[in-house]
Amino acid sequence: MAKKKTIHDFSLMKKEGKKITFLTSYDFPTAQFAEAAGLDMLLVGDSLGMCVYGYEGTVPVTMGQMIFHAQAVRRGAPGTFLIGDMPFMSYQSSVEKAVENAGRFLKEAGCEAIKLEGGKRVTPVIRAIVDAGIVVMGHIGLTPQSSGQLGGHKAQGRTADQAMLVVEDALAVQGAGAHMLLLEAIPPEVGGYIAKTLSIPVLSIGAGPACDGQLLIVSDLIGQFQAFTPKFVKKYCDVAGVVTDAMKRYCDDVRQCAFPDEAHCYGMLDGEEEKFRAALSRAAGR
Ligand code: KIV
Repeated sequence: MAKKKTIHDFSLMKKEGKKITFLTSYDFPTAQFAEAAGLDMLLVGDSLGMCVYGYEGTVPVTMGQMIFHAQAVRRGAPGTFLIGDMPFMSYQSSVEKAVENAGRFLKEAGCEAIKLEGGKRVTPVIRAIVDAGIVVMGHIGLTPQSSGQLGGHKAQGRTADQAMLVVEDALAVQGAGAHMLLLEAIPPEVGGYIAKTLSIPVLSIGAGPACDGQLLIVSDLIGQFQAFTPKFVKKYCDVAGVVTDAMKRYCDDVRQCAFPDEAHCYGMLDGEEEKFRAALSRAAGR
């Protein structure tokens, strides 16, 4: 197993121009695959609301659900830097509650860091969590938990004025002490400028190639999530097609009595079948 990376490794990677690989993960087997594939960091994202639970968005996701999934991912990827995503209403109502919930990801699930959405308006929360000794990743641009205020899941920073607001948010998040920043769904020109300007590692999900690393949602990458596909997604395989086809072939086999065959059956031990038949005959004669 490769040595687990730390925030210092990610800062060094930024300085050396080495790209950081970042993926979401929600369960034990996928976490095992991700660690075997050599991902640098994993996010237990509240996108699990849509990708695992079939909710329409991330708003219903609870801290309890996040902790359960983070624990499973931790077991599957013990050697990979793991980030827990703060769900809606786990950090908005008070700074104290935010620090407590952030701490749960470390104490109960063994995460290395937490992520939370928002720019200028969440800087007091970021500062308090950092002051508690926790590694924080900010998240600005398209922030799904507040997509209602943004008018839907829309790209941000596409006009000069909007882009300046995203830049201000980025500077505020770094100024509040965040250790990393995630940019979602903004033009590559804006993503590139922020990555060049900030000293902390800047990750991208739909923020262009000039950022310090890239994140994808695992359910998009493997072709599992069906509801919609954002522009920034590249599908690397078609799990939905492969799995549906396997299930259809299983149904065909069962219906045609082609499964199970001898190879899938437990044979009786030597000489036991005769004894079994004799026992059945004796029982029938009683
Ligand atoms: O929950 C998540 O997976 C995320 C990404 C969309 C960035 O926050």
